[in-house]
Amino acid sequence: MTETETLEATNTKKVEEEEDSDDDEDYPRWIRSIRSKTGLETAIEIDWPSSSQTLTLSTCMEPDDIAPMFDGTQWAGTRVWRSSIVATQYLLAHHHEQSDQTLLELGCGLGVPGMILHALRGWKVVLTDKDPLPKQLENNSKTNFGEEVYGAQIQAHELDWSRDGVQELMKKQYFSSQQFDFVVNCDCVYEPLYGESWKLLVETMDELLRINPQTVMITSLERRKADGVDKFLKALEQSDHISKVERLDFETDWPEVQLYRVYGCL
Ligand SMILES: C[S@@+](CC[C@H](N)C(=O)[O-])C[C@H]1O[C@@H](n2cnc3c(N)ncnc32)[C@H](O)[C@@H]1O
Repeated sequence: MTETETLEATNTKKVEEEEDSDDDEDYPRWIRSIRSKTGLETAIEIDWPSSSQTLTLSTCMEPDDIAPMFDGTQWAGTRVWRSSIVATQYLLAHHHEQSDQTLLELGCGLGVPGMILHALRGWKVVLTDKDPLPKQLENNSKTNFGEEVYGAQIQAHELDWSRDGVQELMKKQYFSSQQFDFVVNCDCVYEPLYGESWKLLVETMDELLRINPQTVMITSLERRKADGVDKFLKALEQSDHISKVERLDFETDWPEVQLYRVYGCL
């Protein structure tokens, strides 16, 4: 490689890194990273503008769970991604139903939409992700809302996307209703990190809409280079139990985040 080619390659990499960077400076002022004296992040604090409650979400894993975190991609589930903030803003702006609504979050990471909708609307929420994240979600739910609320109004479960996984989740006793009024997933499609797991996400969303075609299903996506999102959207449109995929018009501080409503077949 010539010196010019090396410089060009370095610059391209830098631009890519800058485009994909998700450091604290990108958070609004009401989201803070809490760090130890050595600079290690231990928690994320969220003062959602319309809420009087500060959410403190520990990002520390149990010692036994740290090794898989470094091997795999689960670390991404201990960040708050822009898509989840935008989806939460959208749900709060457009859905004022109180209390008896149920929300299922897929690939929820720290579970911000579910926790905020519970805090502000009293919705009952089921937060799901791959192991070991549900354990952290359970701890964070108990810390923020109390031991008695966990189980009765907020639950965390493992759901590794698949049709069978949805069936298993549905067999368990959740709240009074076995169906979900709302299903949301945020920033769950990014091929460089998760490969073609979006195909499993499509299967999971299709199964949930087969079970309850009336579910309000929202997918919030951050657009990045070679993200695989166009293939994901096309596959959703071609799914058996999905009648329409509609881009939602919602003003946000992050134009790279796109919101879609996915409709079942009524
Ligand atoms: C970029 S993070 C987004 C986390 C959170 N939704 C947010 O927006 O802050 C992607 C999430 O998808 C989850 N995920 C990836 N593949 C998955 C799969 N096959 N089944 C379930 N969750 C998965 C990851 O564990 C991670 O929490």
